[in-house]
Amino acid sequence: MLRIQALTKTYKNGEAALKGVSLGVEAGEIIGLIGPSGAGKSTLIRCVNRLIEPSSGRVQLGEVELTGLSGGALRRERRRIGMIFQEYALIERLTVMENVLAGRLGYTGFWNSWFRRFAAQDVQRAIALLERVGLIDHIDKRADALSGGQRQRVGIARALIQQPELLLVDEPTASLDPKTSRSVMRLLTELCIENRLAAIVNIHDVVLAQAFLPRIVGLNAGIVVYDGPASGLTAEVLTSIYGEEDWTRTAAGEGGSDDGEPLVIARMEAEQ
Ligand SMILES: Nc1ncnc2c1ncn2[C@@H]1O[C@H](COP(=O)(O)OP(=O)(O)OP(=O)(O)O)[C@@H](O)[C@H]1O
Ligand SMILES: [Mg+2]
Repeated sequence: MLRIQALTKTYKNGEAALKGVSLGVEAGEIIGLIGPSGAGKSTLIRCVNRLIEPSSGRVQLGEVELTGLSGGALRRERRRIGMIFQEYALIERLTVMENVLAGRLGYTGFWNSWFRRFAAQDVQRAIALLERVGLIDHIDKRADALSGGQRQRVGIARALIQQPELLLVDEPTASLDPKTSRSVMRLLTELCIENRLAAIVNIHDVVLAQAFLPRIVGLNAGIVVYDGPASGLTAEVLTSIYGEEDWTRTAAGEGGSDDGEPLVIARMEAEQ
């Protein structure tokens, strides 16, 4: 579905943010992209839809190579990709419903298209999506009157209304409390499975990533250092991704053992 091959990005100031990343994501597969601050996670997902121009390498979505497209062709293909940002970039003065419908306009520029009439089927679909994400009772509320979790759900509905094949999600739970974070992750993973979407989710919280995302890709300084099951995140692997740290301290505060067990998973099980 999505194939990233030998992708590099060096910013104008000489900062090499990606140093040859290769990655495949299948339809219906949702992967967690983890790594320390500055590892290149945001750069990677923005290179996929060309919000950032890669320096070299290829990005293919289905049969289409996105790198190499420009103008109208690029805009058309971008509609196949839904973006959910950590700062839940909603239009504050508009209602929940209007924000979701704005997703229908894709990347064409909201204000340019504001006077275009929305098709009845778009409105129907927006209602169905708001029902699905649990916001049907807030349809007329302004975006600036919503909680963080509600805003993220609007962001999800807005990304899904364009019926994308791929979702790029940048830290969806960065400023949410633990319970809201889990419900947003649950919603995201369910929607990907229901709609056979491929998704890449940048996420800082390793425990949360392990709880919801079966496949984890670990990025360190622009290089993929781990690509495997969430259950394989041992202390050794976490060190290769994040650097030296006493990872046993994350295991329910017990500390001590270093027998290669996936420690964070051990903690999740202990909590249940
Ligand atoms: N516009 C830019 N110009 C120059 N360097 C940049 C730019 N954007 C990012 N970088 C650099 O590229 C590297 C990767 O940044 P990126 O934002 O992709 O990291 P990240 O993994 O998303 O980090 P975080 O977890 O903090 O969001 C960093 O060293 C950063 O300083
Ligand atoms: Mg980032």
